[in-house]
Amino acid sequence: MTVKPTILQELPPDLVRERLPRHVAVIMDGNGRWAKQRGLPRIMGHRRGVDALKDILRCCKDWGIQALTAYAFSTENWGRPLEEVDFLMTLFERVLRQELREMMEEDVQIRFVGNLSALPKSLQLEIERAMDQTRQNKSIQFTVATNYGGRQEIIQACREIARKVQQGVLQPEEIDETLFEHHLYTDGISDLDLMIRTSGEMRISNFLLWQVAYAELYVTDTLWPDFDRVEFHRAIASYQQRDRRFGKVKV
Ligand code: IPE
Ligand code: IPE
Ligand code: MG
Repeated sequence: MTVKPTILQELPPDLVRERLPRHVAVIMDGNGRWAKQRGLPRIMGHRRGVDALKDILRCCKDWGIQALTAYAFSTENWGRPLEEVDFLMTLFERVLRQELREMMEEDVQIRFVGNLSALPKSLQLEIERAMDQTRQNKSIQFTVATNYGGRQEIIQACREIARKVQQGVLQPEEIDETLFEHHLYTDGISDLDLMIRTSGEMRISNFLLWQVAYAELYVTDTLWPDFDRVEFHRAIASYQQRDRRFGKVKV
């Protein structure tokens, strides 16, 4: 049985329920640095990173945030040493297998997005199984971006749309932002409200390029394995202080 954290299970009183972000994305960066600081191999950081993600997912659910999207592996991450890539693929598979029952119990709908066909076959099967089983779950939409690239996502949407135009089922004039969004992986999820990046890097690293258009950005120096509910609370509190103008002026 997993021990659930006892702190901050309820929505902290300083946060306003009505102004919670509906969709939060996290760039879970800094696992390697976390391990290095402790004289451990990088993979140990990835292992601890999974624990952090589990806690943030639970926290989102406890507080009533509808959607969490986590960047687990980018299209660029294939450039890492083979050993690390292999470890990550095996880790994803093992975690999925271990956590499926709990995700069912907690009513989590899990989805994987990215170019999944390039992942190891055994991982693809685990992904399919988890997505199928949790499809009807309603408490939170949990999306894991694996072999994901924002540019790649936009290109695959363009291809799908182009095919429809070629088949004559769509007119070029019908292509607008709404139609385009229906062809992105995030179709069916609320607009992205908040993007969090850990470990201090001020970049997007090819994550949710379209969706980030009007999201609020939050960067913390905390390394991902140390990112806990207290840190998440800080991020949401900062979000709630932002004035989201969307290009308009206050009258
Ligand atoms: C993020 O942590 C996890 C993945 C990219 C899979 P890193 O592995 O990038 O950690 P740092 O940035 O080297 O510290
Ligand atoms: C972004 O982190 C990708 C994930 C968190 C999965 P990276 O560590 O790969 O990004 P860069 O290299 O700092 O841009
Ligand atoms: Mg990194």
